[in-house]
Amino acid sequence: MLVLSHIQARDLLSAQSRGSAGMDVSLDLGLSLTSVLLEPHGLRLPDGGSLTWEALTAITEDENGCYLLEQTPGVSETPGVCVPRKIQLYSELTDRPYSLYPTSGAPTMLVSGLPMHRIKDTDPYRDTLEKIKAARPAGNVLDTCTGLGYTAIEASKLAHVAHVTTIELDPAALQICRSNPWSQALFDNQKITQIIGDSFDEIANFPDGAFTRIIHDPPYFSLAGDLYSLEFYRQACRVLSRNGRLFHYIGDPESKSGRSATAGVIKRLEQAGFRHIERAPRAFGVVARKGF
Ligand SMILES: C[S@@+](CC[C@H](N)C(=O)[O-])C[C@H]1O[C@@H](n2cnc3c(N)ncnc32)[C@H](O)[C@@H]1O
Repeated sequence: MLVLSHIQARDLLSAQSRGSAGMDVSLDLGLSLTSVLLEPHGLRLPDGGSLTWEALTAITEDENGCYLLEQTPGVSETPGVCVPRKIQLYSELTDRPYSLYPTSGAPTMLVSGLPMHRIKDTDPYRDTLEKIKAARPAGNVLDTCTGLGYTAIEASKLAHVAHVTTIELDPAALQICRSNPWSQALFDNQKITQIIGDSFDEIANFPDGAFTRIIHDPPYFSLAGDLYSLEFYRQACRVLSRNGRLFHYIGDPESKSGRSATAGVIKRLEQAGFRHIERAPRAFGVVARKGF
């Protein structure tokens, strides 16, 4: 899978303008580097395929998109010219547009134009690591909102995590994951089980005490109000094991809306039976334990 954003396209064009014959560039949004040749008509890829300078220029003009390079068949089965396709789609289920948005690190996903990870003063992967640090995953983990799969993937890497169950409402999000190099571990990892459904409904299907940890990383309240409700928190408490831990992402605790949302969440978590509720400001959320 070859994916480029304006960041790599710009590097390639500036190397071309300096007259370079080749360079190392990332063709997977920053995960690794590949050597490519810079030829008069465009880029020569390692598999023999090519990408025109016009196509690369068009990619530099879109700072909000990531582009999957789709191969057109060449002569006698040799790879031909690649055509960039923007990674975006419209969800029939939720009536929302989804797209992959580049950053200098891992990309985020935009849902109705809203980023699903922090990108200001950080990047989506550092944001994920803060969530993991606060959640302290162990045993059986429930990840309530798959998104790009970053929290599920990072939790699954930990030796003391036995299994991660991750739920995503919208198959469109998983289609975006399929085209995101940073999400691939979601699809070939025995420790991760994916469920497609509404976490609000799905959580009712798990037995009492099924999970040691819950990572609850919902979208903004305006996109998923149910996932901030007392009813949902009661279910979360029920499916946690004794002394189990919940991490709940909420939003910037310093912002006016984040402050009031956090106060409301803490109140409802208490009503739902959670104890030792503490703010986790670096992770923009709160952590809470299931009381005895
Ligand atoms: C903030 S993102 C999650 C990011 C994720 N933790 C990651 O590491 O990439 C929220 C995701 O929740 C999904 N979502 C929205 N409502 C949902 C629901 N009721 N149940 C499950 N997933 C939902 C959205 O489609 C979106 O993909």
